[in-house]
Amino acid sequence: MTGASLWVVDRGSHLLATLNRPEKRNAIDRDLIDSLHLLCARLEVERRTLVLTGSGGDFAAGADIAQLRERGATEALAGINTRAFQRVRALPMPVIAVLDGYALGGGAELAYAADIRIATPTLRIGNPETGLGIIAAAGATWRLQEIVGDALAAEMLLTGRLLGADEALAAGLVTAVLEPEAALAKAVELAERIAGLDPAATQATKRALQAPASAHPEIDLAEQAVLFESPEKHRRMTAFLERRSRAAADTDAGRGDRPAASSAPADAEHGDAAAVREPRREETP
Ligand code: COA
Repeated sequence: MTGASLWVVDRGSHLLATLNRPEKRNAIDRDLIDSLHLLCARLEVERRTLVLTGSGGDFAAGADIAQLRERGATEALAGINTRAFQRVRALPMPVIAVLDGYALGGGAELAYAADIRIATPTLRIGNPETGLGIIAAAGATWRLQEIVGDALAAEMLLTGRLLGADEALAAGLVTAVLEPEAALAKAVELAERIAGLDPAATQATKRALQAPASAHPEIDLAEQAVLFESPEKHRRMTAFLERRSRAAADTDAGRGDRPAASSAPADAEHGDAAAVREPRREETP
């Protein structure tokens, strides 16, 4: 447990963190922000995937308006929510958000900080900040347009219109819409899949994905240069090639009880050389 309003459970392949202020629809207050910082500090060291969700049928109905009302210019410039969400976004390993019910204002911005978002059918997501006399300053004005494009981001931010789950799916804001239990199960399945891949390659991919356009392709080449020298890359590729050789030898000897591996890239689903096999297409997220 990280704090009263943020429950954290170690699930082996990932940490499951649940925003837990259901009586306030998980509105994000200072205590929750402090807990998020603690969680990030842990994940920056442990380098594990984070599955982030909310309790009570909502993700988060925004920053806590009672606290926001009392904040002045100094607090605005401190970026209390902004810095925490930036830190979530910069976590070394992927962040998967399961979005149930309301994901509004700061709650939506926390969701935009995730790498992968999965919705439930009750999702209502968007940024009603201008109706409260403020801007969405914790990521929406730059991150939302990266995800859904300029036109829809502008409409959402300038009108405060909320999207339902189907529209969020069509806009690419979420990648699946599933009933709550299935949505969490899907997030866990993705986290387990990621746990079987090379963590260094996953972290390099995340850094490249987050780099500005001007950084490509140099950042990709620099990341690849490090990975090309890694023993883990050698081990994984050798496992793939040796498996192909064994399968070919078995086939030649008429002993093959399994089809030879194709030239498709390996799917090291369990992070184990012995488990390297052809990709199961239906598993691709
Ligand atoms: N900050 C603080 N408290 C919030 C909150 C927020 N962002 N969102 C909901 N709550 C609180 C409500 O004040 C209420 O608390 P109370 O029972 O002590 O009065 C409780 O959560 C339940 O919300 P309620 O408004 O009664 O539920 P509802 O089903 O009628 O409406 C919402 C749900 C989400 C539509 C409504 O709560 C709402 O508009 N919230 C604010 C959304 C927003 O503007 N977010 C952006 C902030 S940056």
